[in-house]
Amino acid sequence: MKNQQRISIEDIYVFCKKKGFVFPTSEIYGGIAGFYDYGPLGVEVVNNIKSIWWKEHVHKRDDIVGIEGSIITNPRVWVASNHVQKFSDLLVKCTKCKQAFRADQLIEEKIGIKTDSLSPKEIQKIIDEKRITCPKCNSKLSSIENFNLMFKTFVGVLESQEAIAYLRPETAQVIFSDFKLVQETSRKKLPFGIAQLGKAFRNEISPRNFLFRCREFEQAEIEYFIKEKDINNCPYFKEFENYKVLILSSEAQKSNKKEELISLGEAFKKGMVSSKWTAYWLGFEHRFLTNLGLSPESLRLRQHLPEERAHYALDTWDIEYKFPFGWKEIEGIANRTTYDLKAHMKESGKDLTYYDDDSKEKIIPYVVAEPSLGIGRLFLALLFEAYKYNAERENIVLDLKPKIAPYKAAIFPLLSNNEQLVEISDKIYNELKSDLNVFYDKSGSIGRRYARQDEIGTPYCITVDFESLKNNDVTIRDRKTTKQKRIRREELNLHLKKLIDEEISFDEL
Ligand code: GAP
Repeated sequence: MKNQQRISIEDIYVFCKKKGFVFPTSEIYGGIAGFYDYGPLGVEVVNNIKSIWWKEHVHKRDDIVGIEGSIITNPRVWVASNHVQKFSDLLVKCTKCKQAFRADQLIEEKIGIKTDSLSPKEIQKIIDEKRITCPKCNSKLSSIENFNLMFKTFVGVLESQEAIAYLRPETAQVIFSDFKLVQETSRKKLPFGIAQLGKAFRNEISPRNFLFRCREFEQAEIEYFIKEKDINNCPYFKEFENYKVLILSSEAQKSNKKEELISLGEAFKKGMVSSKWTAYWLGFEHRFLTNLGLSPESLRLRQHLPEERAHYALDTWDIEYKFPFGWKEIEGIANRTTYDLKAHMKESGKDLTYYDDDSKEKIIPYVVAEPSLGIGRLFLALLFEAYKYNAERENIVLDLKPKIAPYKAAIFPLLSNNEQLVEISDKIYNELKSDLNVFYDKSGSIGRRYARQDEIGTPYCITVDFESLKNNDVTIRDRKTTKQKRIRREELNLHLKKLIDEEISFDEL
């Protein structure tokens, strides 16, 4: 197998385009930077990720309910949240060719230092002192300036100041502004969470690395509310007390240490993780990601340095994946305190408090954790994890988990010109497709047909051969091992369900 580290983002981009996973949007017009379309295979993967996320975070839990909020809201939402005032990156432009760059990224690329904790003044100083110039034409750069990342639009017929609205830059604020309605209608008691899956838009200065940094992307977010006094009263903490993860604390970063493998219970005891609730959510999200197929060695929990934290956050962690372009965030988990509900109370003048039956007083719910996952980044990480060149098969094998794969099985008649084989294959295909996304292929040699399915991650291939005519059975081939078994036709659906939903191994079949 080709070493994963040697696969570049370009390899994945080319593969995604060639196979129909992801395309640059409106490519016939030259596309537009930072926007992509998921093709026939990609949309299946994304839908699988989203439905598993929803099932694990909403349906399987009694303490989380979901919403689907509007993309455009009253603009005061974004004033309250401080996005209008503060949601910006540092921009530098070339004084000659006018090309725009994100100042921090430019420094990281040119001189290889981390800039997360640097102030704008310090960034400007580095640009000046190191005489950093335009990477395109080597000319002088302008002074840095703040560039707000929100997309503006106008609502209604007048393009006036009053008609300005914003495409949401995160789904979170819609959860906060709906908080009271959700709590009252769902009658949830603290602790409880509100989940949302949906699009977010950011006018990134330099979108890059394919799906990693786009201008339109999808987030899966939860705001988890507790009573502040219960910050270490987490009934689920035990579940992850002995769960080991790679952790890079802010202290370790300050002393240039590497991540260490440590249990979340130990990390809490040592004071690395600020609360039992935080430890629980770090564990829950880490387990969710590994269950989808990311290897624990390629995932680390990195704590933000105090200077790096967003204006609203008390303790923030990134779940980072080891991409070929470095350890990068795929999910953030922030303690947002009471910041947002307080801010919306102030801006709207509305009471967003919660009546606490125990203390008999009104309290402001405390967001101890906001797990915020980027669907596109997870999709990308899953592809990196799964994409392997198999020298023996001289083929790419996409080793996606069956639950993530676009097609769950492919059905082949051994010979395409044999009426009986075709008839049975058609029947099996039609039976299976009412339950599963399956593929039918009768063109080319069986070897070629296997190879095509291996490449797009189909976990099982079912062949109807001459024995099937006599014995009413079929062969099922496992993509991972290439092992084959014969199984009774009437048991096919049941066996596939066991393999896909219960995740039993092929040997256990
Ligand atoms: N509500 C908190 C929030 O939005 P964030 O760290 O800015 O926090 C959360 O974003 C997640 O959204 C990130 O971990 C990442 O996966 C995804 N994300 C953010 N900006 C993105 C972009 N420009 N392109 C793709 N995904 C992005």
